[in-house]
Amino acid sequence: MTSIADRPRTGIGAPVDRVDGNAKVQGQAIYSADTPIRAAAYAALVRASIAAGRITSIDDSAAKAVTGVLQIYTYENRPPMQLPPTDMTKGITVSENLTPLSTDEIFYQGQYVAIVVAETLEGARAGADLVSITYEQAVPKLRMQADVSKPLLPEQSFGTPLQSERGDFAAAYAAAEVRVDATYVTPQENHNPMETHATTAAWDGDQLTVWDSTQWVQGSRNVIAAALGVPPENVRVLCPFLGGGFGSKGFAWGHSALVAAVARDIGRPVKLSLGRDEMFTGTGHRARTEQHLRIGARRDGTIVAQRHDTLTHTSMVADFTEPCGLSTTLMYATESAVTMSHELVRLNVSTPCPMRAPGEASGSFALECAIDELAYALALDPIALRTKNHTDRDPTQDLPWSSKHLTECFEVGAERFGWAKRTPAPRSMSEGRELVGYGVAAATYPALRQRAGARATAGADGRVTVASATHDLGTGMYTIMTQVAAAKLGVPLADVTAELGDSSMPDAPVAGGSWSTASVMPAIEAACDALRAKLDALADANHLPRDVTIAQIVRGSGSQAVTAEAVAQPGAEADRFTFRSFGAQFAEVRYDEDLGRLRVARVTGVFDCGRILNHKTARSQMIGGIVWGIGMALMEETVLDRRTGTIVTDNLADYHVPVNADIPPLDIAFVEKPDYTFNALGARGVGEIGITGVVAAIANAVYHATGKRVRNLPLLPERLL
Ligand code: MOS
Repeated sequence: MTSIADRPRTGIGAPVDRVDGNAKVQGQAIYSADTPIRAAAYAALVRASIAAGRITSIDDSAAKAVTGVLQIYTYENRPPMQLPPTDMTKGITVSENLTPLSTDEIFYQGQYVAIVVAETLEGARAGADLVSITYEQAVPKLRMQADVSKPLLPEQSFGTPLQSERGDFAAAYAAAEVRVDATYVTPQENHNPMETHATTAAWDGDQLTVWDSTQWVQGSRNVIAAALGVPPENVRVLCPFLGGGFGSKGFAWGHSALVAAVARDIGRPVKLSLGRDEMFTGTGHRARTEQHLRIGARRDGTIVAQRHDTLTHTSMVADFTEPCGLSTTLMYATESAVTMSHELVRLNVSTPCPMRAPGEASGSFALECAIDELAYALALDPIALRTKNHTDRDPTQDLPWSSKHLTECFEVGAERFGWAKRTPAPRSMSEGRELVGYGVAAATYPALRQRAGARATAGADGRVTVASATHDLGTGMYTIMTQVAAAKLGVPLADVTAELGDSSMPDAPVAGGSWSTASVMPAIEAACDALRAKLDALADANHLPRDVTIAQIVRGSGSQAVTAEAVAQPGAEADRFTFRSFGAQFAEVRYDEDLGRLRVARVTGVFDCGRILNHKTARSQMIGGIVWGIGMALMEETVLDRRTGTIVTDNLADYHVPVNADIPPLDIAFVEKPDYTFNALGARGVGEIGITGVVAAIANAVYHATGKRVRNLPLLPERLL
């Protein structure tokens, strides 16, 4: 493994600086809310102050009297809109089955009940504060346990089964020689991208342009068109830059179409930017989970039975289910039986949605802590236990993995981290006044790929532009598009421009599920191949010499530019292999018992994600995932008042996330085995795996340091007393 400093500076894999970096630090990157629009009006939302019930009256007279207020919409006078039914084949996915302002019924606190449009942002906000709404309150359902008598049993999450049974769990578990039976609880957590959601909508006749903060311009376009009853080709959605997304911007939320409908109604462009508090109710969250794990093994460490039962919640107006148990069905070879179940309870809370490594972030905390508990019960090293139960096949489909190097991740990680220095007994290591703990866990995330298109254009100046309707969430997409095109066409990086975030560009899937690299890069390569073929044909037709440049071919063709488009999609390989990424996370924690001070002292993460297209941006992805994992382990929690349904931590002072002082040195490595079965580039995604496993590694390290097994996140000081 070479360090970043030793890597070549060009080509695929090179740690190339972000091509959009200068624009961002110089303030030239225009985010959705920054888009300068002439004569724009400003909108502000009014949110329900109760969690369940009905609006009985609305008094907007004081709000209307505010200088510059143009219009106030409620369910009594809202502009025409309909609820687009989710239809994956048409790229229509809504987060909530609720059109904003469509009803007097209240399903959760924070539900939109009015939108105020004014000449200025200040006027809109002042007006929104003065809209007076009275309610008839019902008793909200706010506790999963209180309402668990009749849970829903969701069948699937985006096509993956959520209930499964292999073998006779009860018999195999009863016959096991050693058992772990434990319940792990993860709290509600909220995405907090630096850039809050924002939408600006401007009509020109029957043509609509929307600047939307979204991970899916084409999904946003399709939902807005369906909601407003206009053809999708009349709608263009733009999002060239994102200040983070993490899943909250994946599927459409109601505010985007509402702004477009309001702009149509008042005949002016309208701009809406959500406040940080509104990000806690209107744009999704990671739902609370209670995960019951049972694992049975023989004395020699062979796992014979596993059961992972998840209880979680959704809102009254959605079906999203946090899919915690999926990895448990395939991480470890299990001799006799594996059962996975998910129970879902509807609560009067805002709607959950995917949040970085949905299911896997919470699920790997429970599973990988339970494995650690089993290792202690067996007096086995936790890495040895994992290696003993390694599986070379996906047991759920009886297919081989396309490429799996998990054992190597543990070996490399153990070496880098210095695992051999660990003495296994809890509380056996200390330094100065601090107890020291080492913990380890496996990381994993599915490797997915979708159909995607791209366009490559060569100009008369010899410059090449590649475009696809994908996104750069701050991940490095612009940069790897540039690298892949430059490598494919054999031109310098400086001669390539990447464009993205425009729904009129060739089709690309939602930028989620860690699949953008694996989906879009093959399309970029295919478009570059198609462009090269066109250029070669033009060179031949015009009898140009062999060493001709791209600029000479384009000029010789008599046109301004030569352009080619291509589509790339997965093939039949999915019938023969299961594609998945793996990793090993190691954490050292320090605990000062006198002060109750817990800190993470260092983390090593070693990842098997196929070929790495840019070692700098990929490493940054892992750093981001691990930093978030440290936050999830130690501090993140959305606190809901279970009497009223109020979120009491709806700001970045009360909702704790790590700051620089909380983050220790992070040691990141890739085993880098290209996965050429998956795609010709050999690359799997790196967006989400970094947060998986790290929370368990920290919790396991805390047990090792303190002898306290904390199964409720976050690992707050009071839970360690
Ligand atoms: Mo990710 S939670 O699929 O944006």
